[in-house]
Amino acid sequence: MLNKTLNAYPQQEVFDISKDYIKLTGGDPDVEAPPWVIDAALNAIKEGGKWTHYARGEIPEQFKEAVVDYYKTFGPVYETENVIPTAGSSAALYIALASVLEEGDEVLMWSPSYAGHYRILNDIGVKASIAPLKRENGYHPDLDTLEDYVSPDTKAVLICNPNNPTGTVFTRKELEGIGKIATDYDLAIFSDEIYLHFVYDDNEFVATSTLKGLKERTINIMSFSKTFSMTGWRLGYTIVPERYLDKANKINALTAPRPATFIYAAGTAALRGNMSYVEERRQAYDERRRYFCKAIGELDGLSCHLFEGAFYSWFDARSYGLGSEEFVKRFEEAENVGLSPGHRFGVNTDGFIRVPLVQPVPVLEDVVGRLEKFLGTL
Ligand SMILES: Cc1ncc(COP(=O)(O)O)c(C=O)c1O
Repeated sequence: MLNKTLNAYPQQEVFDISKDYIKLTGGDPDVEAPPWVIDAALNAIKEGGKWTHYARGEIPEQFKEAVVDYYKTFGPVYETENVIPTAGSSAALYIALASVLEEGDEVLMWSPSYAGHYRILNDIGVKASIAPLKRENGYHPDLDTLEDYVSPDTKAVLICNPNNPTGTVFTRKELEGIGKIATDYDLAIFSDEIYLHFVYDDNEFVATSTLKGLKERTINIMSFSKTFSMTGWRLGYTIVPERYLDKANKINALTAPRPATFIYAAGTAALRGNMSYVEERRQAYDERRRYFCKAIGELDGLSCHLFEGAFYSWFDARSYGLGSEEFVKRFEEAENVGLSPGHRFGVNTDGFIRVPLVQPVPVLEDVVGRLEKFLGTL
């Protein structure tokens, strides 16, 4: 039934993939948004009037109500006042970070982590105090040494759960440990949860804000980009507790791009719609994950873990001694495949490569074949 309705709109390839070039740099899903979401946006535009003028009153309010109803299936019940809709979670991240942090502050976070986090922190003059997610710990945080990364300047902790690019799904115990440090040192917690639906095997997503005492200090960052394959629609939101709300509203009003009015209709339809779409996407990523991580791990000199969440493969090519940038550049030149060099994702990440599994298995098989050929030339 779902596949049938999906055919109501062309499921075109998002990337411009010619026969020869395979682009696997960004985490841009290979399918379109659910058809009922596309319909909702089209109908809103066709209806015009309130849907095509400045968003006021009931339209953002209905969207926020849908967010509150949706989010309470993972975390606590919020008031609609706590929800700030944004044009993608990149804007949500900016609002969240800028409303808590000031130049000279420090944030406790982990490496490897999403490059966009470092970029915003750099921009607002905030230093990242970076704890490692080590391969030998399965890319999980080491709670015993975490306090070493807290200084008198530390004002917040930034968690990406599930983590891009390692796929780490933080356990309840880990979140409790991080929460204890946040409470002891009175830190805000940024919880980037945009991959929360994409969790595999017996791993379980736990919303930081559900843990005892953490709701008041946790700012959630959410997006429609990955969950509903809506990267280009630019829709996300942040859920901000009372403590940081005034400043967040001010920054939002002055700086951050807000969603287009008719996009609220799409967002509400997505959150209130059939979640089997999301489950189908999860299963597709799971199949790709099982294939790709195993196939990469079987190639000479590469090693790859079966990641727990999100949809990125993060493999270790250090044995070739090229460094990430050189590896990616030479592979692209030789085999027409674009991948992301690991050094962009933090410290001690050189020699690693990130691959978003946003193409079906046959394309990934092609990538593995080309990689094998390339490795044979090194
Ligand atoms: C962890 C994480 N947060 C935020 C974003 C930003 O996504 P968007 O602005 O499309 O919502 C991304 C994009 O890849 C991401 O991986």
